[in-house]
Amino acid sequence: MSCVRDWPEPIIRVQSLSEKGLEAIPERYIKPMSDRPSSNFPVIENQNIPIIDFSGLYGDETIRAKTLSEISEASRDWGFFQAVNHGVSPELMDRARQLWREFFYQPMEVKQGYANSPKTYEGYGSRLGVEKGAILDWSDYYFLHCLPCNLKDHNKWPAQPSSLREAIEEYSKQVVKFGGEMMKALSINLGLSEDYLQKAFGGEDIGACLRVNFYPKCPQPDLTLGLSPHSDPGGMTILLPDQNVAGLQVRRNDGWITVKPAAHAFIVNIGDQIQVLSNDIYKSVEHRVMVNSNKERISLAFFYNPRSDLLIAPAKELVTPERPAIYSPMTFDEYRLFIRLRGTKGKSQVDSLKSPSPR
Ligand code: OGA
Ligand code: NI
Repeated sequence: MSCVRDWPEPIIRVQSLSEKGLEAIPERYIKPMSDRPSSNFPVIENQNIPIIDFSGLYGDETIRAKTLSEISEASRDWGFFQAVNHGVSPELMDRARQLWREFFYQPMEVKQGYANSPKTYEGYGSRLGVEKGAILDWSDYYFLHCLPCNLKDHNKWPAQPSSLREAIEEYSKQVVKFGGEMMKALSINLGLSEDYLQKAFGGEDIGACLRVNFYPKCPQPDLTLGLSPHSDPGGMTILLPDQNVAGLQVRRNDGWITVKPAAHAFIVNIGDQIQVLSNDIYKSVEHRVMVNSNKERISLAFFYNPRSDLLIAPAKELVTPERPAIYSPMTFDEYRLFIRLRGTKGKSQVDSLKSPSPR
């Protein structure tokens, strides 16, 4: 990001806007007709993404096989599922979410001390992308690195609430462990050795970052979005949603499905890097976030990523004359520049990696 040092226009915190109690949202947040929540694809009612009980991976052989096949089906077909009994402590999940809520409830001067820039995105932010005049999403966030160790910098994590740093350390440790189990299951389900994907990600040297999303109340939720449609650029996302407020919608064919969070579940989704490595067997699916007028919402998105300087390309074991490599190799460092400069643009980025002519 050496060329981009600052935002193209002054940053406005959505939380401050929301607290003003305006009747109408500023123009900068009003989406064009075609991008509004009720346009393009319809919301499909009474459906949810699959829920998978991960304790089955440690059950007898029949249960383990059934669980692996549920993970396989969900990753190929949906790109999204909820995981329960995933091994991360439910109390820790609640504590981490609560501490981050308290972070956002602090006075603005405190949060401004962590204001981020598009150079690294670390810290307190209110936009993604640096296009001057872009229409913005109705959310603020906090972004930080947990791994690799040389990028982890506690000074860039909030000092208050006082137990936040320690809680995030523990949370990161437990979520990375769950991510490692997911990587094994995904590898086995591709017919590869269980350490295949982890090795392709750099073994111990993976990247891991946390993006805490804060979606303030919005007086005109039909005109804007908390997060515009996008697929996640990284390997896999392990999201802790708000326990009280729904908002995440997942693309399913020609519609959107609202995720109804199960108690202490994680919402897991395949990111672009795993779609590329699996040569399109696993799907990185578009999703978006709705806001509403009477409840704010918070979510903790944990991104499990490859080591950022490794070339990521379709696994050679999955490339055959009948199924040629669909994507050209790219490092994650290079790949994530796109979203960092241009913001969320649906699935256009991973599509742009498609090799010009199949070999
Ligand atoms: C994200 C994301 C969804 C949510 O941070 O990439 O898609 O529910 N978040 O906040
Ligand atoms: Ni996302």
